[in-house]
This record gives sequence, structure tokens and C-alpha cells, in this order.
Amino acid sequence: MKVLGIETSCDETAAAIVEDGSSIISNVVASQIDIHARYGGVVPEVASRQHLLTIVPVISQAMAGVSWPDINGIAVTFGPGLAGSLLVGVNAAKAIALAKNLPLTGVNHLEAHIYANWLDSSRSGKNEPVKFPCLCLVVSGGHSDLVLMKRHGQFEKLGQTRDDAAGEAFDKAARILGLGYPGGPAIERASSSGTPCLSLPRAWLKDSHDFSFSGPKTALWHLVQQGGVSVADVAASFQLAIVDVLVTKTIEAARQSKVEQILLSGGVAANKMLTQQFLAKSPVPVLIPPPHLCTDNAAMVAACGYYHFQAGKTNGYDLDVVPSLSLG
Ligand code: KG4
Ligand code: ZN
Repeated sequence: MKVLGIETSCDETAAAIVEDGSSIISNVVASQIDIHARYGGVVPEVASRQHLLTIVPVISQAMAGVSWPDINGIAVTFGPGLAGSLLVGVNAAKAIALAKNLPLTGVNHLEAHIYANWLDSSRSGKNEPVKFPCLCLVVSGGHSDLVLMKRHGQFEKLGQTRDDAAGEAFDKAARILGLGYPGGPAIERASSSGTPCLSLPRAWLKDSHDFSFSGPKTALWHLVQQGGVSVADVAASFQLAIVDVLVTKTIEAARQSKVEQILLSGGVAANKMLTQQFLAKSPVPVLIPPPHLCTDNAAMVAACGYYHFQAGKTNGYDLDVVPSLSLG
């Protein structure tokens, strides 16, 4: 079964064709990073206008080499995300579904991130199949969720951030350090020439699987105000503080919930230090998508949509965007 996936929840216009939920036939991502970078973050109105300009060429490019009769269904992100951005993808998907008489399914962006682990080409090197129950860590610009997945489509949220998401913390720290947007890759690059020699606080939130990342961000701000520290050392210390908490708390939750595997996903899972520490410390196998499938893309949406179709989950033309949609 070939599914066309469409993703426009934030600042990437993306379309992809995936066969049977795993094999990527095409995967096109038009990033708006350069446009938003000059403002230091995503400007929602600019993002939706840009999606309008790029959605048709991006879908056409994803369809190059595939003919419409070969497509069996359309999957589109309907939340969470920016309302104006989500609307562009959802309306494009509805228009194509109507014109080509194809079934439509609305996909939760966070669930889609998790399904990047079903796509061929795992970074752990073992190309292991997913085994249930598994513990999913979704770390993106807007979310840091720990989710127990017992079977396809069944999610139980064990923890979430109480303040900043992990990606948001990286973005804010990079802004304080003058490293530009997006902050995660900028902090990772700056860290490579520094050492994590500065002590930044970790919020362990004992007896809870929740996270909190505002403490290290505030401590970083004070360090920068005091002066006399190297940007590379601050970046390296900050990266370690975030990674330390994510790895330690996720492994603890995995032990408690006796899962078979840990599945990483979301833009922050592109971070090398995070993945290295997980692979070194986890008592159970850790699945990690390659970096380009951790950040926003439509292949993950198509993979997730395939499992929706398998379960008979489809939507009508009344599918609407849900900007504050959550998971589990
Ligand atoms: O999943 P994603 O592409 O979009 C959202 O759904 O939010 O995640 C974007 C977030 C940004 O906050 C970005 O700074 C962060 O992921 N990110 C990283 C890295 N690459 C992207 N954070 C740490 N290290 C990275 N290499
Ligand atoms: Zn995302």
C-alpha cells in the first residue's frame, strides 16, 4: 500500500510517498529556516504564506516517478502545530482526496514522529524491528513527552515537560549565546570546540516522569551576564545538562515500565551526544531514526498513516486542524 504523506505543522513544507509503512519512495522537505532565521524564530503568518507557495511544487516533486492510480491513501498532519500552517496541509490533502477519490487520514504530528522508527534505515545500525511494549521519547521544539506504546495506535503518556520543551530550551539558550536559529544544531556545533566544565542545574523531579528545562536555561543566562566564560564551554555544559536529564529519566522510566525497547524521535533526537549516551547507557535496545527523519518530514506522516489505514481509521472532508492536539 502506497501512502502520500503531507506535513505543514510548523516551518517545513513536506510531502512523501511511503510503501507499507516502511519503505520510502520519495521524501521532499522544503525548509523555511533561512526565512525565519532573520527573525530568530518561526513567524506564524510568514510560515503559512510560505506553505501556500510551496505545497503544490513539493507534492508534485514527491509524486515524480509515481502515478496517481498507484497511490492508495493520503495522510496529513492535523495537529499539534501552528493553525495557519496546519490548514494549508489539511486543505491540500482534502482537495487531493476528493479529486482522486482517495481515503484520507488525519495524523497527530507527535505520533508521526514516533513512526519515523518504522521507516527503513535505523541509525542504531541493527535495523531492529520495533517490539511492543516500547517507551517513546518525543523531543521536539514544542514537546518533551515520554509515552508508553503497547501496540499500534495506543499511547499512554507517562511524562511531559512542565515548562520549556527540550528543543525550545536549546533554541532559547542559542539565542542568549547569540548562536542563531535553530538552536539545537547551533549548540551542538559550538559544543564541539568546548568542554562541559561549568556546572548547570538538573531538575530530577523525583517520583515523576515529567521534565523541566527552564532551570539550566536561567543558569546559562546568569553565566553569560557575569561574563568571562567561553561560549563553547557554556554550550557544551548546557548540552550535557539537557542530555543527562533526558537519558537518565527515560532509562529510569524504561526500567519501571519493563519495556522491550526505547524509541527516540523528534528534532532533538538528531543530537549526537544524546544518541551516544542512550546507546551507551540503556539496558534495552534503543531505536533512533537518522537525523533527517528525526526533524520534521512527511515520510513519518505517511508511515503513521499506513497503520491508521490498516486499523480502518479514516477521516471525512470535515477533518479540521487541532493546533493544541496532544498524545496519550
Ligand atoms: O521535530 P522538529 O523538527 O520540529 C518540531 O516538531 O518542533 O524539532 C525541532 C527542534 C528545534 O527546537 C531544534 O533546535 C531541535 O529540534 N534540534 C536539535 C538538533 N536538531 C534539531 N536539538 C539538539 N541537537 C540537534 N542536533
Ligand atoms: Zn516535529
